Amino acid sequence: MIVGVDIGGTKVLAGAVTADGEVRRTALRFTPGRRVPAHLVENALTEAVMEAVGDEPLQAVGLAAAGFVDATRTRVLFAPHLPWHGEDVVAVLSERWGVPVIMDNDANCTALAEAEYGAGRGSSSTVLVTLGTGIGGALMLGDQLWRGVGGMAGEFGHQQVVPGGLPCQCGRSGCWEQYCSGNALVRHARARLGASPVLTRITDADPRALTGAMVTAAAAEGDAVALEAFRSVGDWLGVGLANLVASLDPALLVVGGGVSAAGNLLLDPARAALARSLVGAADRVIPPLVPAALGPQAGLVGAALLARQIGG
Ligand code: BGC
Ligand code: NA
Ligand code: ZN
Repeated sequence: MIVGVDIGGTKVLAGAVTADGEVRRTALRFTPGRRVPAHLVENALTEAVMEAVGDEPLQAVGLAAAGFVDATRTRVLFAPHLPWHGEDVVAVLSERWGVPVIMDNDANCTALAEAEYGAGRGSSSTVLVTLGTGIGGALMLGDQLWRGVGGMAGEFGHQQVVPGGLPCQCGRSGCWEQYCSGNALVRHARARLGASPVLTRITDADPRALTGAMVTAAAAEGDAVALEAFRSVGDWLGVGLANLVASLDPALLVVGGGVSAAGNLLLDPARAALARSLVGAADRVIPPLVPAALGPQAGLVGAALLARQIGG
């Protein structure tokens, strides 16, 4: 059995994936964040992989890591939300598990899965962004990922959109992901928690308890504070995508990640901002902006696709 694992800033999600891309069994572990020894993340990964594979023989593991994966795809050189910093993760884990391991950036894996089974199928060129803790990005040219010379193409979330703006976990400031992500959504809603009876109730009036999923639930109930948070994040999404379209002129835009579960609450303001911000908008075809089709499992499914190439 092949296992794919999505390794994010707060949790790892492993799944046993069949040759048809079907997810059989998943296992979730919470990870303690960036400022902890790397072996804690590796322990959480090991537990999740072993639970996902169950009694079946483990053939290979694919890792979808939320960080800058190097050109050889064995190391995470830098990660705003993970503790790895240059160690050969693939060697360490393949030795520990006794099977081949392969790794790529999480958004790259999502793009591979969407191209194979989801919203990107048949597209000649696709820009994909995932909105979670941060922004993940990927560029697909036909069925090929554009990885860049150092392996780290597609770090769209760290384009500086507000000089001198909000500090980012990457160590710089004003990055797009500070204005357009799950964290941005929560920050917005948290700042106006008292004005929202719905969010005050859901969080027991504790701002620290607020999560992106709660903001999504409140927006679905028509809560004004939550809707405003989505308008802001959606607006920034459209502005950032307009810059990417101006640079790359892709055939398709796909938005995934946890925040995209809100669907048109997010995408309608994004489409409006895209049309407003894109250079030459009146005289060009604006690419369709569509939600990812595979949901929160896309990253692990894409990692499993890579693992199948090496181990089964
Ligand atoms: C990281 C990316 C990652 C994204 C989504 C960003 O902050 O720089 O490598 O793909 O978050 O997890
Ligand atoms: Na990427
Ligand atoms: Zn940044």
